[in-house]
Amino acid sequence: MSELPMVRTVTDLRRQVARWRGDSLTVGFTPTMGALHEGHLSLVKRAKAEADRVIASVFVNPTQFGPGEDLDAYPRDEAGDAAKLAGAGCDLLFAPAVGEMYPDGFATSVRVSGLTDCLCGASRPGHFDGVATVVSKLLGQARPDIAVFGEKDYQQLQVIKRVNADLDLGARIIGAPTVREEDGLAMSSRNAYLSEAQRLSAGKLNVILNNAAGALSRGARADETLDAARQALAGAGFDRIDYLEARSSEGLALQGPGPVTEPSRVFAAAFLGKTRLIDNWPVG
Ligand code: PAJ
Repeated sequence: MSELPMVRTVTDLRRQVARWRGDSLTVGFTPTMGALHEGHLSLVKRAKAEADRVIASVFVNPTQFGPGEDLDAYPRDEAGDAAKLAGAGCDLLFAPAVGEMYPDGFATSVRVSGLTDCLCGASRPGHFDGVATVVSKLLGQARPDIAVFGEKDYQQLQVIKRVNADLDLGARIIGAPTVREEDGLAMSSRNAYLSEAQRLSAGKLNVILNNAAGALSRGARADETLDAARQALAGAGFDRIDYLEARSSEGLALQGPGPVTEPSRVFAAAFLGKTRLIDNWPVG
C-alpha cells in the first residue's frame, strides 16, 4: 500500500488544499483524535463519497479533556492510524503537534450556549468549549466543502453544526450513523479500557436504549420508560449512570415526564468502573 501523505503544519495543510482547489477538486474533512476504528473509517469513506479529496486529522485535543480525564492515557498509534486511513481512501493526514494548534499566547475559546448546558456538557464542564474551539480552528485551517462527524457523539454533532453556521466556517456538516460491534456496542477507543466482564455489560447499553426508544415510539411515558431503563442498566452491571434522558433531536429539549412530543432520541452516559460509555438511539 502506498504511504499516506502527512503534514504537520497549517501552512503545509493549506498548501495542499490550495493545490487541490487549483485543480477544481472538492475537499472533505474528517477530524479525529486517532486510535482509529471502523467507526472513524466509515466517516472517511462517507467523506470520500461526497468529495474528490479527503483529509483526516489526528489530534488529541488537550482543551476538551477535563482535570482527571484520560488525556495522558488516551491511546495513540500514528503509524497504525495512517495505514488504516490510507486503506479507507484518505488522501492526506493532518497530524499537528499541540504547539502548532495552541502556540504561546493562544487566548481564544469558542463557546456554544444552550446546546452545551445538558448531557455531556453538564457533566464535563468546558468539554464542548474545547471541542468547539478546535473544530473551529480545523475547519478554518482546511476550509473543506464538507466535514463528516459521527452521530455516536450526537450532542457534539449538534454543537459543531451550530459553530459552523454561527461562525460562517462554510463547510456542509454531515452526520454519519454509529458503527457498532456485533452485539451492538458503539465502537469507541475507550472500549479498550474494559475488562472482559465489563465488556459483556457494555453490550447491553445499546439494547436497553433501543428498548426504551421503542417504548417511547409507542407512546409510553418518558418517566416510567427511563426509570425502567435505569433499573435495567443497574441490573446489567453498570456502576453509575451519569445521565439517561429523552431529548429532541434538533434542539436537545428535554422530553417527558409524559410521552415525547417532538422527534427525539434517548441519550445515555454510564460508567463501568472508571470507563464512561455514551450512546444514543432515535425514537421511532
Ligand atoms: P474522536 O472521538 O476520535 O471521534 C472522531 C469522529 O469519529 C467523531 O465525529 C465521532 O463522532 C466519530 N465516531 C466515533 N465513534 C464512532 C462510531 N462508533 N461510529 C461512527 N462514528 C464514530 O470526537 C472527537 O474525536 C473529537 O471531539 C473531535 C471532533 C475530533 C474534536 O477534537
